[in-house]
Amino acid sequence: MARIALVTGGSRGIGAAISQALAAAGYTVAATYAGNDEAAAKFTEETGIKTYKWNVADYDECAAGIAQIDADLGPVDILVNNAGITRDAPFHKMTREQWTQVMDTNLSGVFNMTHPIWPGMRERKFGRVITISSINGQKGQFAQANYSAAKAGDIGFTKALAQEGARAGITVNVICPGYIATDMVMAVPEKVRESIISTIPVGRLGEPEDIARCVVFLASDEAGFITGSTITANGGQYMT
Ligand code: CAA
Repeated sequence: MARIALVTGGSRGIGAAISQALAAAGYTVAATYAGNDEAAAKFTEETGIKTYKWNVADYDECAAGIAQIDADLGPVDILVNNAGITRDAPFHKMTREQWTQVMDTNLSGVFNMTHPIWPGMRERKFGRVITISSINGQKGQFAQANYSAAKAGDIGFTKALAQEGARAGITVNVICPGYIATDMVMAVPEKVRESIISTIPVGRLGEPEDIARCVVFLASDEAGFITGSTITANGGQYMT
């Protein structure tokens, strides 16, 4: 039977490419989304991938949603923590709300999704937890004290949990995309975006598929010896 993959924020942007690449690789895929009903309905219509609506920042919603997917499709074998938001502002202008929203979604959301799925992965002695962090969690970014802190937290989370999962056949890895051509990056003012692109050695933004291919590899049996790793895919913008 096909393994079950769950992709948060899986109906748009990088997440949509991940959902589709996993489906093409033979997984049964469920995608979550937070608010955009229209985009999710269109995504399901075009791809046949089931979508579920909940807020990853809410632990109880995550637990209930995961239980629903378990009932509909079966237990989750591959979890892709992709959902994320930006609330950019220079720190002297950043509000507590902007800080909290980003931490709740981009860092606590990863806990909220992984925690209810983890015991089942341990019992079944197989699992893949793949979290989408960011280049800005590695290098920091002007106007992103909240986002950079949360994304750096995702890397620490991965390294700790990889040690706990290793003996149970669960790998835990994190991918750090650079600037990818999605709505999130297109929302950056054009002048700022152009100046960022000028710092990318390959000379262009990445494509969502560049990240999706990394996920498909990490999800595979062939990647079973890779755990606790940080994979960077950023066109050479930041070399670690
Ligand atoms: N480095 C140094 N200085 C910078 C800067 C930078 N990267 N960006 C802006 N500044 C400067 C501005 O030039 C301005 O200076 P002056 O006052 O001397 O003109 C000052 O900082 C702040 O400007 P504003 O008061 O106009 O700032 P604002 O409150 O309007 O905020 C902004 C503007 C939110 C910072 C906007 O410039 C912006 O969105 N910047 C992009 C931030 C960014 O890269 N976010 C990444 C989003 S994509 C993503 O997050 C995905 C991923 O994982 C890669």
